Amino acid sequence: MMTFAKALIENQPTLQWFAGELSGAPVHKSVTNTGQLAGFFQDKVSLAGIDPATVVYRVEWWEPVSPTVEGGLFWGSTIIEPGRVGNEYFMTRGHFHTIRNRAEYYCTVQGNGMLLLMDELRNIKVEIMSPGSLHYIPGGFAHRAVNTGDTALCFWACWPSDAGHDYETVASKGFSARVLSKNGKPVLVPEEAVTEA
Ligand code: F6R
Ligand code: MN
Repeated sequence: MMTFAKALIENQPTLQWFAGELSGAPVHKSVTNTGQLAGFFQDKVSLAGIDPATVVYRVEWWEPVSPTVEGGLFWGSTIIEPGRVGNEYFMTRGHFHTIRNRAEYYCTVQGNGMLLLMDELRNIKVEIMSPGSLHYIPGGFAHRAVNTGDTALCFWACWPSDAGHDYETVASKGFSARVLSKNGKPVLVPEEAVTEA
């Protein structure tokens, strides 16, 4: 007969919900700085004036199964620092899932922001991120989180293990709108209007 001690699963992670940290299991971590986001922010002059090592966001995530497995789930946090490049708020790169019909949940635990959701026809919609907000990202929508507040924006995400990340489409075509600060308030500005903004 199996003893309880033997039946205990090892490497079960613990999460620090509000700090956005995972521990107790092997987790993946990434840090993205302004130098790596050169093609993403609109104001190149302002970007050139910022130390390229300035951290924009950190991600920690747990992959309990291989990314080749269909039917599994991944779990992770993102912390976006407060800040701007010119009048554009710090944000994630944003991506479509490689397998387009793969959906995702985001839920906010700290801070304030906006979640941009854009379909393949470049139609865009926005959801407000604030502590407790839950966001269902349907398959086929590129998603980008933007920190519009003065403190870190922290959210958790859950996505299918085989979703994959298509960064190329956003890197080459961008989103169809940007979140800019106007008179101290975040405003969604269509890409074609940004230069006049
Ligand atoms: C996973 C997911 C998030 C993001 C994270 C960083 O599918 O959407 O965990 O990966 O918020 O954003 P990106 O990946 O766009 O740099
Ligand atoms: Mn995703």
